[in-house]
Amino acid sequence: MKAVPISFCLNGHPVSTSIDSDLRAIDLLREGFGLTGVKEGCGRGECGACTILLDGRPVNACLLLAAKLDGCEVLTIEGLASADGTLHPLQSAFLEVGAVQCGFCTPGMILAAKSLLDTCPDPSEEEIAYALSGNFCRCTGYSKIIKAVRLAAQEKMR
Ligand code: FES
Ligand code: FES
Repeated sequence: MKAVPISFCLNGHPVSTSIDSDLRAIDLLREGFGLTGVKEGCGRGECGACTILLDGRPVNACLLLAAKLDGCEVLTIEGLASADGTLHPLQSAFLEVGAVQCGFCTPGMILAAKSLLDTCPDPSEEEIAYALSGNFCRCTGYSKIIKAVRLAAQEKMR
């Protein structure tokens, strides 16, 4: 196995490390950097629990080689709140609406929703459902999640 040096921006901070060429991004983030908000559900690209934003786009960290993070901007749920601890409008809206039950899907859901709101600030319920269609929730029935994303969009536009 080959050791590969990589450097990238992780939650706003430059990081450099050396990794095995076959290491998955989810393992580097969880075990190398302690970012356990990146959840492993299925481990095969089906549930979205491991969603991170890579240069602003949602990707499944369980399917991504860590080497692909090189040179990229990586955002996990740990980097979403402001430095002073103020929650992102999506985080506040999920709490306000009650869109979190067990919470396992929540980091991936919120990051996928962030990517949507960054490109489509006032999405319809259909657009939200489509954007979150790769993220599974076993608990909430989705309606509160969609409501929370709508609320966050309205808050951001104020
Ligand atoms: S753990 Fe990555 S998609 Fe399910
Ligand atoms: S809140 Fe439990 S899986 Fe979504």
